[in-house]
Amino acid sequence: MKKNISKHDLAVRWLIREHQYIKHQKQTGDIPEGNIVSLIEEVNLSMGSYFLAHAEDESWLGRKFICENKSGRQSWPSVLSDINLLGPFNSASLEGNHVTFSYIAPSSRRRSIFFQSLLTDPMGEVDFCFIRDFDGALPSGDKFWQVDHLSAERMAREERHFQIHTELSLKVLKTQGVIFDPACSSGDFLASLANKLPNFNYIGSDISPKMIEFARERHKERPISFSIGDAMSSRQRCDILILRFLNDEVMQIGSAALAFKHLIDLLNPGGIAFVFGHTPVLVPITDLASELGFEVIKNTASSLDKCSIFQFYMLRKHP
Ligand SMILES: C[S@@+](CC[C@H](N)C(=O)[O-])C[C@H]1O[C@@H](n2cnc3c(N)ncnc32)[C@H](O)[C@@H]1O
Repeated sequence: MKKNISKHDLAVRWLIREHQYIKHQKQTGDIPEGNIVSLIEEVNLSMGSYFLAHAEDESWLGRKFICENKSGRQSWPSVLSDINLLGPFNSASLEGNHVTFSYIAPSSRRRSIFFQSLLTDPMGEVDFCFIRDFDGALPSGDKFWQVDHLSAERMAREERHFQIHTELSLKVLKTQGVIFDPACSSGDFLASLANKLPNFNYIGSDISPKMIEFARERHKERPISFSIGDAMSSRQRCDILILRFLNDEVMQIGSAALAFKHLIDLLNPGGIAFVFGHTPVLVPITDLASELGFEVIKNTASSLDKCSIFQFYMLRKHP
């Protein structure tokens, strides 16, 4: 049962927990290979930090942690590298409001080999399943999504890897059609695609009137149609669907699954859906995709230097 805690208190406790985790990992150093290691976490705080990475018939437990970027801002990056891989998964069990995770300590050589297989296995996947299993999503609420030019630019920088991969994939897969972003926020994601791929028709909507006002003003020179609307009731048919809001800190788990099922139905035959986000994707995409008759083309993508990976689902509706 979740306690009623204010967002501010949660954020402070979460920050403290992240710093404790980093300190603990540094102090523990290299645990001998084969030892079972346990970590105890509060459901209310850290379920979105843990993931399972699947590749070549192995499943490893992994954990994200807070990092400082070049400008000294602390954030929780969407990209993962081998340092986020803890070891082969052993167990996860719930007791009260705490989950005990355990894994088998690997050697650093085994860790790099597994990371390489994640990069090369075409069906390699990073799944933040514990947030669903233990109901640990933390939606931010409407007031969180305020935007100004500075924060829009920061968010666009943080989404650059998603934009590059969407653009590269579209160059190979499609040459024209309607691209729809049903939770377009500042509109920057669509605008960056529109700059590079001018043959598509761009449509963005968002539930927040302020966000749409901002996007319209910011991109008034660009051929993008923006409108206010709840993605859950959208009837916009499209050839390309950009789903970058079915994520922790944006939605509840149940709403994310409902939104996914509703939106994916709006794709024309042969259409492509991209699913990703700055925070973990809440929907079990591969399971739902096969249930709904979609082909999964990709689960993850890697950075151009092959040092990091991130969730990046690409699905195709049968023609
Ligand atoms: C796209 S997501 C986050 C994307 C990006 N990483 C960021 O940090 O802004 C946030 C947006 O989703 C919008 N949103 C949330 N629920 C929605 C819904 N049911 N329908 C349409 N837009 C929604 C919010 O208003 C907000 O603008």
